[in-house]
Amino acid sequence: MRQQIVAGNWKMNKTAVEAEALVRNVIEILSKNPSESVVVFAPPFVHLQRVAQIISQSPVHVSRVFTAAQDCHWEESGAYTGEVSAAMIKSVGATHAIIGHSERRTYFKENNQLLARKIDVAFKNELLPIYCCGESIMERKNDHHFKTIEKQIAEGLFHLSENDFLNVIIAYEPVWAIGTGETATPEQAQEMHAFIRDLLSQKYGGETAENISILYGGSCKPSNSKVLFAQPDIDGGLIGGASLEAEDFLAIIHSF
Ligand code: 13P
Repeated sequence: MRQQIVAGNWKMNKTAVEAEALVRNVIEILSKNPSESVVVFAPPFVHLQRVAQIISQSPVHVSRVFTAAQDCHWEESGAYTGEVSAAMIKSVGATHAIIGHSERRTYFKENNQLLARKIDVAFKNELLPIYCCGESIMERKNDHHFKTIEKQIAEGLFHLSENDFLNVIIAYEPVWAIGTGETATPEQAQEMHAFIRDLLSQKYGGETAENISILYGGSCKPSNSKVLFAQPDIDGGLIGGASLEAEDFLAIIHSF
């Protein structure tokens, strides 16, 4: 269902003590000053269980807070040293998994075919995928950005049934805007989000497309989140750097 969502992708940051402090801090303030939006914390794997536990023990009025893994393996289990399966993630109380982040695509050579398998294993284990797409600066300069996004979405997601597809969250994160301080303008972001929604509409029909949350990511911060989230096809954000400080993350959560 289309919802306003603010998800914090911590990437490889925070020790156990820091992780707990950040989540407690955000939840405490949220309980006093609630938000209508869904809030998702995506800490590193080692903190998932603790974060999920803190959330589950939090007051009812912050019940729209969830825990996501930053990735999951494409196989159910087996000899994959160092990896983490969807079932393990589910078993510690997480509900979502980020799949296809550009850092995984770049540093770990994950391609759309592999990501389609991760999407399937996530669904099989009742994890909701947050599927990332985004073009490089060269692709945008060469006017290939729409083609790139179309390919990432079609190859990663379009094998899904309409029923499963309704449970996908999409995050558009232009690679040139991630961690660079350079944000897509609201017009650039809206243009791509509308393009993505149109792709979904062509594949699954207008009603389904209208029900999918499409998040923006890439140097999203308190100073630009309001204007980005005000765009008609932007349903929230996938936040990196600014999710590491409670004050900034809360300001973004309250940007709708
Ligand atoms: P930044 O907000 O740090 O640019 O990171 C965005 C991102 O990659 C979230 O997944």
